[in-house]
Amino acid sequence: MEVYIKNEKIQEKLNVLLSDYQIYYQNLRAFHWLVKGQQFYMLHEKFEAFYDEAAEDIDEIAERILMISGKPLHSFEDYLKHAGMKAEKNLEKASDIIPKIIANNEHLLLSFRNILEMAADAGDEGTVALMSDFIGAAEKRLWMLNSLQI
Ligand SMILES: [Fe+2]
Repeated sequence: MEVYIKNEKIQEKLNVLLSDYQIYYQNLRAFHWLVKGQQFYMLHEKFEAFYDEAAEDIDEIAERILMISGKPLHSFEDYLKHAGMKAEKNLEKASDIIPKIIANNEHLLLSFRNILEMAADAGDEGTVALMSDFIGAAEKRLWMLNSLQI
């Protein structure tokens, strides 16, 4: 059995995930800056907590790509080229922003599940474990965000 994992398909998928995550991160920063309304303090702080969490996840993904013998994308140009997620602009109302964060998290969750399945088939337990952690965290965020909406 090989000691080191080298799976180009998983590297590619993780690079797409990394690109999506960078868009998600910047979306959260925009929401943190632009949000207005009665829930301002709570949402401004919560969006900061989300982007701090996203920054850590981004680092984990990039380093995982290195661990499986790949190279993480590292320029905005490449992220925009590879991401399937859309950069949001000019959203200020909580009622516009929350559904976007929910949709972004649903997008990430589907990617995590997809990569987990692919990594499991390839015997890449490290990537499985990372995706498994991400799935739990995204499901928690989605539960909380969906609870904000009535
Ligand atoms: Fe800030």
